[in-house]
Amino acid sequence: MLVLGIETSCDETAAAVVRDGNTIRSSIISSQIELHRPFGGVVPELASREHLAKIESIVQEALDKAHIAIDDINAIAVTNGPGLVGALLVGVCYAKALAYGLGIPLIGVNHIEGHFYSVTFENPPIEYPALALIVSGGHTNLFFVPEEGKYKLVSRTRDDAAGEAFDKVAKMLGLGYPGGPAIERLALEGDAKKARFPIAKISDGRPDFSFSGLKTAVARFLRENDLTPANDGGATSQWAKDVAAGVQESIVRSLVQTMEKAARELAPHTLIVSGGVACNLALRSAAEKAANRLGLPVYFPSNHLSTDNAAMIAAAGTAKLDAGQRSGLDLTADITLRLQNLESEDSELKRRARYKL
Ligand code: KG4
Ligand code: ZN
Repeated sequence: MLVLGIETSCDETAAAVVRDGNTIRSSIISSQIELHRPFGGVVPELASREHLAKIESIVQEALDKAHIAIDDINAIAVTNGPGLVGALLVGVCYAKALAYGLGIPLIGVNHIEGHFYSVTFENPPIEYPALALIVSGGHTNLFFVPEEGKYKLVSRTRDDAAGEAFDKVAKMLGLGYPGGPAIERLALEGDAKKARFPIAKISDGRPDFSFSGLKTAVARFLRENDLTPANDGGATSQWAKDVAAGVQESIVRSLVQTMEKAARELAPHTLIVSGGVACNLALRSAAEKAANRLGLPVYFPSNHLSTDNAAMIAAAGTAKLDAGQRSGLDLTADITLRLQNLESEDSELKRRARYKL
């Protein structure tokens, strides 16, 4: 089965052709990083306009690269949430029109579920139950997945996502956007012991993450040590490298510690770490060490598949199509789309804690 995947949830216009859910025939990603860089983050209106300008040529490029005519496509999978509403709508409307015109099935895919499926291409098949840490610029979630398509949310962030924390600290250090890769580069020459940042403890005892305190801690560190990126050599100075190393260490420790503890309780057969932050080598190495201690395999996507792409959307879509699911032409963008479909404690939690995501 040949599935065309389409992803436009944030700042990448992406299209891919995937065979049988596990073989990439083509995967094209047009990044908008340069467009948003002057603003230090994604500008939603610019993102939607750019998707609109690019979508047709990116889909054509994916078909050409796969040496496939549009009529050979069996189904279309498209991200319909969560994400930026205007950006999502471009992909959803395009996919609906194409599926209708071709008379083929359409399936809407949750972007986070796409990140889960990003490991299916370059790893052995996932053995369930699985425990998946999905860390990106917009999300930080730990899911227990007892069987394909069933998701129980174990931990999530109470405030900023891990990638967002990397991006915000990078901004404070005068580094560019996106911040994760810049922090990782700097951290290689830094000493985390010289700039220690604690892991936030959640007062109600839930195994959740919290990263917003890191910004305040870094701001205090800079103030107390009389450091200003602009006047003090900024990104190239030793203190900035130490701060980068300290911040990375704190984020990675928080993520991996929580995953390891959950794995001991839930006894999964496979660990998965995916999403843009999974590009981070310190995170990969810490997760590998934890997996060794647990005696479990850990799957990562390659860098191309870690950040937003359409191959992962096609893979997730194929699994849904195989399970008999289809979306109608009433499919629309849903920025509140949730992945958890098992034992959600949401209503109780909403009363006690305010979640951003
Ligand atoms: O999955 P993604 O492309 O987009 C979202 O769905 O958010 O993730 C982008 C995020 C950004 O916050 C970026 O700073 C972070 O992933 N990121 C990294 C690294 N590469 C990308 N964070 C830490 N280390 C990296 N090497
Ligand atoms: Zn993403």
